[in-house]
Amino acid sequence: MHVSQRFMFGTATAAYQIEGSPTAEGRTPSIWDAYSHTPGKTVNGDTGDVACDSYRRWEDDLDLLSDLGVDAYRLSISVPRIIPTPDGAPNQAGLDHYERIVNALRDRGIRPVVTLYHWDLPQYMGEQGGWLNRDTAYRMADYARIVARRLGDCVDTYTTLNEPWCSSYLSYGATEHAPGLGLGDKCFPTVHHLNLAHGLMAEAVRAEVGTGSKVSVTLNLQFNRGDADAVHRTDLIGNRVWLDPMLRGYYPAELFDVTRKVCDWSFVRDGDLRLINQPIDVLGVNYYSSNLVALAKTPHDDGGATAWPCCENVDWLPTPGEHTAMGWNIDPQGLTDLLVRVHNDYPSVSLVVTENGMACDDVEVKEPDGTFAVHDDRRIEYLKRHLAAVGRAIRAGVPVEGYFLWSLMDNFEWAFGYTKRFGIVRVDYEDDCRRVPKDSFAWYRQVIADRELPE
Ligand code: NOJ
Repeated sequence: MHVSQRFMFGTATAAYQIEGSPTAEGRTPSIWDAYSHTPGKTVNGDTGDVACDSYRRWEDDLDLLSDLGVDAYRLSISVPRIIPTPDGAPNQAGLDHYERIVNALRDRGIRPVVTLYHWDLPQYMGEQGGWLNRDTAYRMADYARIVARRLGDCVDTYTTLNEPWCSSYLSYGATEHAPGLGLGDKCFPTVHHLNLAHGLMAEAVRAEVGTGSKVSVTLNLQFNRGDADAVHRTDLIGNRVWLDPMLRGYYPAELFDVTRKVCDWSFVRDGDLRLINQPIDVLGVNYYSSNLVALAKTPHDDGGATAWPCCENVDWLPTPGEHTAMGWNIDPQGLTDLLVRVHNDYPSVSLVVTENGMACDDVEVKEPDGTFAVHDDRRIEYLKRHLAAVGRAIRAGVPVEGYFLWSLMDNFEWAFGYTKRFGIVRVDYEDDCRRVPKDSFAWYRQVIADRELPE
């Protein structure tokens, strides 16, 4: 299916996952520095200290993007580079760095799509309660204002938050992400404070840039199949808890019902929902796989820590078919169905796929001519099928404005450290972070050049 010039083909990365240089030019630690440096939290004790060394090699990375021919690049700004100290004072060196990148992208004809918060909360905010503390939302709005004031409408799209599901449930409900508090059912205040942060950040950005840039948020919406009641519950806890306040201005009444025993929502103050319900231009959807759920015969006790609070009546069943190196199932139709569903229920906003991609056990080979290569046919197949799924959604009438492949290059995959590779460029961590474009890179370049979504 042919797509017009307006459709954005891109790739995505995030600051902590690629940058390294944790103390350069005034940066202070984030909650992910603290977490990854705590023994036992990440595979092999991996940290983002070096990552892909992109803080220093950003121009090389932009060369890769030019070579790829993308229309847009989704990057995130490291919060502790911009407001490294508890007084919230802007760090000019950090702002200069991102201003250089944004300008260089524009010089190359690549639209910068900037995520303001991709999980790297300054550690000093973490020590003051992190997302359990309402004040964090206001501080993040101040930070968003600082960034938007400097970068202005040179940024195509500002995204307030990336995957608040992870920043709340995985980070405060469960223990897998920083700060890893494992509060289970007691993590709902973080949900509300993230919603509030989105609203305040969106408002702050809008006040700076008007209609000069788009404002958005990225959600990892869950696409679950199985028993209707189990699907309904996980949709409520996983999806509507963000979508309804952000796009409709209310929390679903049913949410108060099902969480009654564990939470009275008294942290929601008058006027919050009006603040959260800011007009946005586009909703980012991250999609990798689907889940299979069933109603539990007997409600289970998750023993505290869980990424699915108030879902004790839901069982997660093994998913059929092929799986990726993350153990995630491959379900391209889920992407079409998800986009169609979101558009039907929330028709006021355009959609963009802000992440999709595959972790593979890639093998680097040395070709007879001495060059390195990675023949990642399975990744190409995955991407082909998901791009086709986007095409089907467009045909069904969903306004999908773009597709961002996760990721431009292999990087620090959070608790999995460097063991999972999502890149279309290999990063050889053992050999000075040498970059090797994989076969999928050449394949994606052709897709972009032809502007043709595979069938
Ligand atoms: C979601 C996150 O936004 C990104 O940081 C992560 O690396 C990918 N998905 C893959 O898990």
